[in-house]
Amino acid sequence: MRSQTNSRYRRPSQAPPPDLLTVLSKKVVGQDAALEALVPYVHMYQAGLAPEGRPVGVFLLLGPTGTGKTKTVEALADAIHGSEKNVLRIDCGEFQMEHEVAKLIGAPPGYLGHRETVPMLNQQKLNAVTSEKSNLSIVLFDEIEKAAGSMNRLLLGVLDKAILRLGDNSIVNFERSLIFLTSNLGARGISRELRPDFGFDSLVQRERPKRHRKLESIALNAVKRKFSPEFVNRVDVISTYHPLDRQALERILEHQVEELRRHIRARLGSRAFSVELTLRAKEFLLGKGTSVEYGARELRRTVHRHLIQPLAGELTRGNLEPAGCAMVDWDGEAAQLDFDCISEEELDVAS
Ligand SMILES: Nc1ncnc2c1ncn2[C@@H]1O[C@H](COP(=O)(O)OP(=O)(O)OP(=O)(O)O)[C@@H](O)[C@H]1O
Ligand SMILES: [Mg+2]
Repeated sequence: MRSQTNSRYRRPSQAPPPDLLTVLSKKVVGQDAALEALVPYVHMYQAGLAPEGRPVGVFLLLGPTGTGKTKTVEALADAIHGSEKNVLRIDCGEFQMEHEVAKLIGAPPGYLGHRETVPMLNQQKLNAVTSEKSNLSIVLFDEIEKAAGSMNRLLLGVLDKAILRLGDNSIVNFERSLIFLTSNLGARGISRELRPDFGFDSLVQRERPKRHRKLESIALNAVKRKFSPEFVNRVDVISTYHPLDRQALERILEHQVEELRRHIRARLGSRAFSVELTLRAKEFLLGKGTSVEYGARELRRTVHRHLIQPLAGELTRGNLEPAGCAMVDWDGEAAQLDFDCISEEELDVAS
């Protein structure tokens, strides 16, 4: 029998890179269904099997604020291009009036301002968010419910034929694009639905799937009331993001603290210090940062106000020495966290 090591098919010595779903679900917590629906479209593109004459995928992300819709798009850009910034973002709130669509596509020749208006969306801008790693553009139309009718008509063409005709008659091609549309449509209905029992944590585990379906149908009905069937039919995947439970928020807090540590290391270099939080300190941040209304946004704000800002204060007062450690605790009652700044020598003695 031929030994495995002599085989032409032996495994490469390096472990394969983690798959896209694993990478994304490390960054976007508690929204597995949405991520699972998205990944096959990226694979289809990478395999060269995406259909021609339409965008690679069109995704409508719904659900309450601060639940990870934008985070998903950023995490995908990071996974594909190596930076969360490789996203062409169009804020539809800027196109609420019919005439404002000229800002997006430029005014036609002969119209007043034709020369001055540089279209916000053109082929160069679409190409600028690709990278050496991939030529797939990620485009995000945020808050589409705010867009004027003229903008929706343009979008319809993009979703249908992957083409946008600009004011000067040139064409932008979206065949190598993933298009994300986000909307808070139905979010008010969702929070009304959640309020009686104040969030997901009070729900028994087995009741959750039923509740998830209910929230999905609230969001979908709101979309159907607002957009034409043609529009809805051109969307490949509609995902409703769910309110985050305590467990998800705990993981998000871990992410945010880890992000802070990375930031300290990257920014301060040899002056960097470490940050450790006790369980009680985490409890304080979660207690203050949990909000049915604002999702993980509130947690981010709380981490800024109660962790990052006081740390910056300790640093500017010279209390945090290079290679030292900020031990963060909470006494269970105070309205703020307690910071104990330990020097490198003290740390050495302690260990
Ligand atoms: N599911 C999640 N996983 C990890 N982090 C999250 C998640 N949801 C929210 N966050 C954190 O909260 C911040 C705000 O979330 P995000 O921008 O994705 O909200 P959103 O759903 O797009 O809300 P909005 O509808 O207001 O635009 C993120 O930058 C991230 O730090
Ligand atoms: Mg968002």
